[in-house]
Amino acid sequence: MDQMNKRVYIKTVGCQMNVLDSEMVIADLKRHGYTVVDTPKEADCIFYNTCSVREHAEEKIYSALGKIRQTKEQQPDKLIGVMGCMAQKDQEIVFKRAPYVDMVIGPGQLHRVPDLIEKVRAGEGRQMAVSLKRNEGTQAVIARSHETFDPLRDPSMRPTPFQAYLRIQIGCDKFCTYCVVPNTRGPEQGRPPEQIVSEAQILAEQGCREITLLGQTVNSYKFKNEDGSTTDMADLLEQLQPIEGLERIKFVTNYPKDMTERLLCTIRDLPKVSPYLHVPAQSGSDAVLKRMKRGYTVADYMEMFERIERILPEAAISSDFIVGFSGETEEDFQKTIKLVERCRFKNSFIFQYSVRPGTKAADRLPDDIAREVKVRRNNELLAVQDAIAKEDNQKLIGQTVDVLVEGPSKKGLKSPEGAVVQMTGRTHCDRIVVFDGNRRQAGQFMKIHVDDCSSHTLVGRVETVDVVTIGGLA
Ligand code: SAH
Ligand code: SF4
Ligand code: F3S
Repeated sequence: MDQMNKRVYIKTVGCQMNVLDSEMVIADLKRHGYTVVDTPKEADCIFYNTCSVREHAEEKIYSALGKIRQTKEQQPDKLIGVMGCMAQKDQEIVFKRAPYVDMVIGPGQLHRVPDLIEKVRAGEGRQMAVSLKRNEGTQAVIARSHETFDPLRDPSMRPTPFQAYLRIQIGCDKFCTYCVVPNTRGPEQGRPPEQIVSEAQILAEQGCREITLLGQTVNSYKFKNEDGSTTDMADLLEQLQPIEGLERIKFVTNYPKDMTERLLCTIRDLPKVSPYLHVPAQSGSDAVLKRMKRGYTVADYMEMFERIERILPEAAISSDFIVGFSGETEEDFQKTIKLVERCRFKNSFIFQYSVRPGTKAADRLPDDIAREVKVRRNNELLAVQDAIAKEDNQKLIGQTVDVLVEGPSKKGLKSPEGAVVQMTGRTHCDRIVVFDGNRRQAGQFMKIHVDDCSSHTLVGRVETVDVVTIGGLA
């Protein structure tokens, strides 16, 4: 294969897991001589890294596939691959709906991408790789997360060169009734702590100042070591804290039942660990939580919440909610509003329930809330959450916050090189801050005086330039 066959385009949708998977696939392909291009038009291989969490996410990909059908007919040598969660969930359906797709590759088989391309090019026909089984699948997954795959990182694919995701856990065993993730990502498996630590060291050496540890229920992380001992999330954070060059450690997503006293005390005692906890509640009604099979009641959630408030009073807590889940009454919904009012989350991601084939809810619970009702509840909850966030952000006006500067904001991107531009960054608590600065500040820690805010953003100005200060809990 000559160089001309090796231009790759990748489109990534979905969660941080997919962003990380794409980074790794690209690192692997580059090692095989590929270069990345910005448009499908320039590419020899076009990949979609897909998400199945809601129907809408899938429809967007099928529509993108529809749009490149003609291109593929005119240039049959252009290879098209569908990878990630929708590849796993739909498998043969992808080929049925888009027969010109050449490869369907599930999240457990991404280390085989270069090999699968070769097979298609060698005339072996279209390829499907979707194994996720605990044994055989584990081998693949472990192989991928071991020497062969995970350490291969590609800084150019990251959101910024100084921030990186680091997978500590694969899959999910919780099987919430609405959720497709256990089907698409397979069983929960913790990665060995020594691999995680060495990968974090590599990232720090590459210039990463912030890492975000990823897992579907990240705080449930456990690994059974060869000597019989167990490493949990608190142990892991302790092992990551000393890594030189690393300044901030964040982690998503937390499962409410596993937010232990010990873990919270560890977060409190380790200065690099961000006092930012994303702990989705999903609903404020016990009846709904039960149908969702979340494994906790509102009282359990509140007990956890109060534990966080007691041990980490300055922490920012955020949540996810699903509105319009099967059987959600107006009364149930009002209970969700109450929970948001009580917890005053930093922010909440709100989703309208979307039936996912293959889940328990799809099989057993009717999708009985009208679309208009879902939309109305979504907007109502969002309005309550946004008002709270704005009020709480206003309390930060006049204070100074420590910001890791990420780069020009969307607005700043338009300004010419060298000009004063609007820059954006985040506090230790993950609050977004914008201020007037310059592009060279990206990657630095800066003290920003907060002058104004909206519900999602703090607006400030540079106070002093200070290389690395840890602390300042805003
Ligand atoms: N593992 C994480 C979340 C993974 S999915 C956790 O357990 O919190 C991200 C969010 O998408 C979920 O928190 C949930 O709010 C939402 N979600 C998942 N399945 C959904 C569905 N079928 N319809 C609507 N929203 C859904
Ligand atoms: Fe889905 Fe529940 Fe697992 Fe989160 S914990 S990924 S919502 S099954
Ligand atoms: Fe979507 Fe898969 Fe993430 S379904 S949310 S890309 S784990």
